[in-house]
Amino acid sequence: MDHIKSAIRTIPDYPKPGIMFRDVTTLLGDAGAFRAAVDAMVFPHAGKKIDKVAGIEARGFILGGAVAHQLSVGFVPIRKKGKLPHSTLSQSYELEYGTDEVEIHTDAIQPGESVLIVDDLIATGGTAEAAIKLIRSAGGEVVGCSFVIDLPDIGGAKKIEAHGVKVASLVAFE
Ligand code: PRP
Ligand code: ADE
Repeated sequence: MDHIKSAIRTIPDYPKPGIMFRDVTTLLGDAGAFRAAVDAMVFPHAGKKIDKVAGIEARGFILGGAVAHQLSVGFVPIRKKGKLPHSTLSQSYELEYGTDEVEIHTDAIQPGESVLIVDDLIATGGTAEAAIKLIRSAGGEVVGCSFVIDLPDIGGAKKIEAHGVKVASLVAFE
């Protein structure tokens, strides 16, 4: 995990003063670290029935697409409001630095399908919680969440586990 952690760049005071922004673009640009991260995101969920991977815009698309390919399952985008072209379900949520709204296509998940949520980072857990609500509203079952980065001091993983969803992350930043 040291290779993965050291491949993540930290930008102080982005996008607002006081935020230590954990930038995974440097990890994605490092072939070995990218592959190791994708493998390690899949591993905790090995043996589970997974029908689809849901990736959260924007960095969850890159990681989630690779995880879906690795598992040979379909990919479902969870997008910021107004970006999906067909009929959608919406869910608003609070961020570490603001509020936002995410959407899923109403027909992206078939009733009873098992879905793994993928994103780069969990902070407050608000985004992942919104994704869980959307997937459940669409008729899916959330089998777990995989993140590269957890910010444990903010407590998002605990919030998600209170929904009965297993959270796996590769590295933590205090
Ligand atoms: C970041 C990150 C997660 C979310 C985590 O995305 O990629 O999706 O914040 O924060 P939370 O656990 O407090 O909800 P961001 O909202 O910056 O969007 P972007 O990937 O489109 O830039
Ligand atoms: N999303 C929420 N908090 C973040 C952080 N500290 N770094 C990168 N993305 C984030």
